[in-house]
Amino acid sequence: MPAVHDTGTVQNPPPTRWETTVIGERWDFYVQRFDRAHAEGADLEGEARFVDVLAPRGARVLDGGCGTGRVTGALHRMGHRVIGVDRDAGMIEISRNRYPAATFAVIDLLSLDRDVLAAAGGPAEFDVIVLAGNVLVYVAAGTERAVLATVSSLLVPGGRLVCGFATDRDYTVAGFDADAAAVGLVIEHRFATWHLDPWREDADWAVTVLRRPDRGGGGEEPATVD
Ligand SMILES: C[S@@+](CC[C@H](N)C(=O)[O-])C[C@H]1O[C@@H](n2cnc3c(N)ncnc32)[C@H](O)[C@@H]1O
Repeated sequence: MPAVHDTGTVQNPPPTRWETTVIGERWDFYVQRFDRAHAEGADLEGEARFVDVLAPRGARVLDGGCGTGRVTGALHRMGHRVIGVDRDAGMIEISRNRYPAATFAVIDLLSLDRDVLAAAGGPAEFDVIVLAGNVLVYVAAGTERAVLATVSSLLVPGGRLVCGFATDRDYTVAGFDADAAAVGLVIEHRFATWHLDPWREDADWAVTVLRRPDRGGGGEEPATVD
């Protein structure tokens, strides 16, 4: 079982759903599934290609809840200045071993700020932030809005946040939309897959692109979260 470290500005980030429901046998199962997929040369880069389309060349990218590092590794290879962060130290160990040239750090999403990121060797603000592979349904219950507020505060004005998660979990698309609006993010696109299949209300997956309004564009500043 991996050690789980917490670092950064939030003193005691609560245990995540990842820790309360996956750590243990399901963690090993998850790692083995990705090990097998990696060894078989499966396509593990769809999310990274999606982000690459949105991003300027050499963009500053945060892969939040990076898991085994597949999105960070691919975006690094594509020439972006990317940092992958995860609260699970076991995941970061796998990421560093698999993608030694990329930058990874054990940080809770709720603890992210510019100083913590700079100390970890990453960019301190971002053109694009990606929360792929169900990250938002695995954060601690009730922290989703705070996570969105924290990461959106790290976007440059006009920067974009991309989130992909399953629609059959406790955290719903409607809840996500309310949280996004509350922190001042504007929804620009929603798809049913990372391959741009059109959104449908009965889709089992939601990929959403949100933008932090540009100050010059007349948008509102992100609201603070109590
Ligand atoms: C299903 S995995 C997805 C990994 C990766 N994004 C991918 O698509 O391959 C979810 C990850 O979110 C991470 N996570 C959940 N809550 C977190 C938090 N508050 N801070 C940092 N990482 C978190 C977990 O540790 C886990 O590695």
